[in-house]
Amino acid sequence: MNKGVLESTAELLVSPGKGILATDATEGTMDKRMQAVEVAPSPELRRKFRELLLTTKDASEFISGVILNDEIIRQKTSGGIDFAKLVENQGMIPGIKVDKKANDMANFPGEKIAEGLDGLRDRFIEYKNMGARFAKWRAVITIGEGIPTDVCIESNAESLARYAALAQEADIVPIVEPEVLMEGNHGIGRCEEVTKKVLKSVFKKLTDHRIVLAGMLLKPNVVHPGKDSQEKADNEVVAEKTLKVLHETVPEEVPGILFLSGGDSAPEMTQHLDLMNEKGSHPWELAFSFERALEGPSLEIWKGNDANWEAAQKEFYKRARLNSLARTGAYTKEMEAENG
Ligand code: G3H
Repeated sequence: MNKGVLESTAELLVSPGKGILATDATEGTMDKRMQAVEVAPSPELRRKFRELLLTTKDASEFISGVILNDEIIRQKTSGGIDFAKLVENQGMIPGIKVDKKANDMANFPGEKIAEGLDGLRDRFIEYKNMGARFAKWRAVITIGEGIPTDVCIESNAESLARYAALAQEADIVPIVEPEVLMEGNHGIGRCEEVTKKVLKSVFKKLTDHRIVLAGMLLKPNVVHPGKDSQEKADNEVVAEKTLKVLHETVPEEVPGILFLSGGDSAPEMTQHLDLMNEKGSHPWELAFSFERALEGPSLEIWKGNDANWEAAQKEFYKRARLNSLARTGAYTKEMEAENG
């Protein structure tokens, strides 16, 4: 393991003003996203949409890295360039999602465990040869009646740590993503309590597995009420509670925290990030690694129609730029009305 390589890649990924595009939704999820905007999904349209995003001119002003998945990293652009190569040519760092489907956890109804550790050492070698310099593993934690259980939290934390160890062995920076899902009718207090417990468990396991904390990145959820909760929390409270949990659980050696968007709208997520960066200084960079909140608005504009290609790229550039401004607390809601 080369600590210098890990640390410098991690730092580059959270360079000032930059964040990550996670265009790594699985085939099934991407198809659902397309159906939601009335596009009949196909492998070709999935490929084309990624090409649209990744050929957006000057996106690298705001995007440091791009998370691909196993399908896209094996595909080529219409001009015959491998996608990982395209990402590099555009001035960004290629990354790869390596967790496989989150499966039902035996004996724990309603809970999931991410799989994909078997053969991961060899997969890392293959992905590295394809150009990947960082990786992502997502574990999902559901809040509900009597859940999450300690067994589910600890099993997922253990998998995240084993993944991170294998990634670092290959000089690939692991993004560790324990996502406490937004689904449910719980209040913000419950989300705070669960997120804190999950992050405590994750950092305990990462330390047990001797992970180089300066050579990894964390990708958490923001703390807010469940989607179906009657409780409404204003964005100031969301920012305060999220920061409180992070300060209580994330060691200072971790260079950066990149939030997932989890289903919040694109402007909402930008505002969350902006408020957190506005509130004092933190030992880590606070950045973004969004899928929906970065590429969703472009997909809605594109709708699989080449006539909308340019407008969709313009929207992607705009979202990347606004999130970049949110890295320093310089975003305002009024900017949403700006054109491009
Ligand atoms: O693993 C989840 C994705 O990388 C982030 O997706 O921003 O839509 O939550 P999201």
